[in-house]
This record gives sequence, structure tokens and C-alpha cells, in this order.
Amino acid sequence: MSQETILIIGSAGQLGTELCETLRGIYGNQNVIASDVKPVSGPLSENGPFEVLDILDKQRFTEVLDKYKPTQVYHLAALLSATAEKNPKFGWTLNMDGLFHVLDAAKERGIAKVYWPSSIAVFGPNTPRVNTPQHCVMDPNTIYGITKLAGERYCEYYFEKYGVDVRSIRYPGLIGYKSAPGGGTTDYAVDIYHQALLKGQYECFLSEETELPMLYMPDALRATISLMDAPADRIKIRSSYNVAGMSFTPDQIAAAIRKEVPGFEISYAPDYRQKIADSWPKSIDDSVAAAEWDWKPEFDLDKMSADMLKNLRLQYSDKA
Ligand code: SER
Repeated sequence: MSQETILIIGSAGQLGTELCETLRGIYGNQNVIASDVKPVSGPLSENGPFEVLDILDKQRFTEVLDKYKPTQVYHLAALLSATAEKNPKFGWTLNMDGLFHVLDAAKERGIAKVYWPSSIAVFGPNTPRVNTPQHCVMDPNTIYGITKLAGERYCEYYFEKYGVDVRSIRYPGLIGYKSAPGGGTTDYAVDIYHQALLKGQYECFLSEETELPMLYMPDALRATISLMDAPADRIKIRSSYNVAGMSFTPDQIAAAIRKEVPGFEISYAPDYRQKIADSWPKSIDDSVAAAEWDWKPEFDLDKMSADMLKNLRLQYSDKA
């Protein structure tokens, strides 16, 4: 394996925390530089290099690039759907200017590969909602979705025009037990497992029949790393790939939890996030990712629920 130096921007988030651990396992702790807007404690800063980096601060970004000369950059810093609705101007600035800084650095310095996550939020009310295809109407009506769609167009443009090897996945809701999500519409599907164990009940901010696509973190990590490892000539999509794991409603996840936590109860109090969820797909057609870089999920709802609850039980018993 050639020696890679990887910079992760936004490593303290839900995806970054786990991706950093996984990439350090593959490439060696010293070769994966974690960074985030605020100082952190714990494995991110203890097991390998860590830098405080606000991706909007171009001078600081230049210092970090000069210090480590990364061959790959994973740019994960963003405001997610629910948070960006509360602060639309900053959502646009962080999500777009951050991406411009990374793409320009890749172009100017010849950084070999860039990873940038997109989302199912790129779709909108006129998108076909069942088995949403790779290519279809995209009319996002959230700031987050608008920035992700604009970002996809920029990524493709930088690949076509300047040869920047940028790769991307349109993540559905991500579910994992090691890190907490922050500010997304799909976050309920993580919190529900914690509350099932802590309280035996959960009040859901989406209605019981709201079906959304989701992906278990081990599948999300495998998808991301397979895409980054795939030979460049197999990557035909330079905007972002549809990737799916499973789809379920709050009612269905509650039923899956009940198999492991008998008597678990769910109630519903939909809030402003309902409208966001209603504009997104129910399920995703990921056949292009399957054909081009052999993507295949391993976890369905029952398998994920059993694994989540087993691991969360261990975490809670360790803390007790
Ligand atoms: N999980 C994200 C959100 O809910 C979707 O990309 O904002």
C-alpha cells in the first residue's frame, strides 16, 4: 500500500468519529489527522494527530495543509438538515465555502483524492419517492438539500474541468452506537435505541408512517472506504452516488426494538422536521453503485437493531 496521509475535516461529528477510527486502523494512527472546529478530548486527539481547524478560515487551513501535506482529504464539516433550517445563512456559508476551500486546495496542490458526503436531502417534493433513481428530478426545499445539490454540481465540475478526483455518497440517515448525530431529521433513529434502554419509551418527532432510507454505520463505513479504494476509472458518477441500506417507519423500528426490549412503547409528536422528512425519498435505488463499485449492504432493520442494542447495553453497563 502506498503511504497515504489523510486529513479529516469535521472529525468530531457522527460520521467523522467512526471514520477516523476506521481509517487509523487501516493507514496507521499517525497518518490520519483528525481536525474539528473545537478542541476535543478522547481517542480523536489521543490516538493520533489532531488540529483545531475551522474550514472557513482559509489561512489556518493552509497552515494545516503545509504541515501535513495530505494525499487525501475527507471533508465532513457541515450543518445538517434541521440545524441549517434554523440558521439558513450560516448553513449556506459553512456548507458551500467549506467545500470551495477544499476543492480549490485539491486543485492547487494536487491532493490525490477528496471525499465529500452528499445526502438524500438533494431530492425534493417532485422526486419519485419510491426507489428514487440515481438520475431524476431534484428540487430540494431545505437549505441543507440545496447546499448538497449545489455541492454535487461543484464536485462534478471540478472533476471535469480540473481533474480533481472527488468522490461522494448520498447518505441516507446514518445509525450507529459509537457517536451521536447532530441536527439531522433522521436522528430519531439513533435516539430511539438509547431511550428504549434508558426509559423503555420514546416520543418521536416524526409521525408513525414516515418512511425514510437509513444505513447502519458499519455499512456506511464500508461503502465510503470501498468507494475511495475503487480504481478511478470505475467511478463514473462524480456528483454523488445513491447508496441504500434499508427503509423503515418509526412504527417499524419500534416493532424491531420490541423484539429485543419487550414492552417498549413509542408515542408521536411530529414537529418542524416532519415537513423535511416528507420532502425526502422513502427508498433509494442504488443499482449504479452496485454495478460500478460492487456496493452491497449487510444490515437490515432486525440485524441492525440486535447489534445496536447489544452494543448500547454494553456501553451503559460499563458506565454504571
Ligand atoms: N441524516 C441527514 C439529516 O437528517 C440526512 O443526510 O439531515
